Amino acid sequence: MGEAAQPFVDLRGVSLVYGQGDEQILAVESLDIQIAKGEFVAVVGPSGCGKSTLMKLVTGLLPPSAGAVFVGGDRVSKPIRGVGMAFQNSILMPWRTTLDNVMLPLEIVEPYKRELRRERAKYIARAEQLLASVGLGGFGARFPWQLSGGMQQRANLCRSIIHEPGLLMLDEPFGALDAFTREELWAIMQQLWLDKRFTAVLVTHDLREAVYLADTVYVMSKRPGRVILRKQVDLPRPRTLEMTFEPGFVEIVHELREMIVEVRLS
Ligand SMILES: Nc1ncnc2c1ncn2[C@@H]1O[C@H](COP(=O)(O)OP(=O)(O)O)[C@@H](O)[C@H]1O
Ligand SMILES: [Mg+2]
Repeated sequence: MGEAAQPFVDLRGVSLVYGQGDEQILAVESLDIQIAKGEFVAVVGPSGCGKSTLMKLVTGLLPPSAGAVFVGGDRVSKPIRGVGMAFQNSILMPWRTTLDNVMLPLEIVEPYKRELRRERAKYIARAEQLLASVGLGGFGARFPWQLSGGMQQRANLCRSIIHEPGLLMLDEPFGALDAFTREELWAIMQQLWLDKRFTAVLVTHDLREAVYLADTVYVMSKRPGRVILRKQVDLPRPRTLEMTFEPGFVEIVHELREMIVEVRLS
């Protein structure tokens, strides 16, 4: 197997048990997931099946109880670098402007932390450019409360990738938005990924969202979460909202939905 064939994220037989003694909960079991560099993966499954646990295992926030996690060829044993994260309720700091919120990771993550003082203008320009690319050009000076929910979540996405992470972890980032705003965010998310080609893992309840964005969709079972279906989405890119109503797209969503219904009843 050549170098290029090595997965960027590699979970081998990963299980996670919460708690101790007779309070133990097996959250996820025997996960085998291989994600290529630059791949966009979506993970769907019933509530409580271990999706957020999976995110914590990949980023090294939780050590696996069994099996091993590798990212970029290295075994994960502590919180990893080079990762960006966005959540449904990751909030912008209300006392900072939008621009200063987006720049926050640069103040924390090396090597930016060291370079920021010397090259502040360069990084301000980068943040402004990123904001403009998600339709927030000219909004940098506004405070979060002066933005709509959708605009806040766009700024949140900018903040999660300003430090150019190789891996972006998205845990239901659009979950709190209304359906129309959510669909706008899909297009923005797709464009960011097409521009920057980070590896992305998206947890979502929305099957249309999963199929719109992902190269590969994993369906997880009820707890303990296991992978019960790995579905490749071979639709061309860029994908459009119009495509979500076409037979090829609908067919995949339908297949996933049937699988989910089955797991929930099992
Ligand atoms: N820190 C914890 N301690 C004990 N149990 C937990 C903890 N975190 C999550 N769990 C349990 O593990 C299971 C999986 O949780 P989670 O990964 O958050 O699921 P999901 O994100 O798919 O809704 C759930 O049953 C949850 O109650
Ligand atoms: Mg969760």
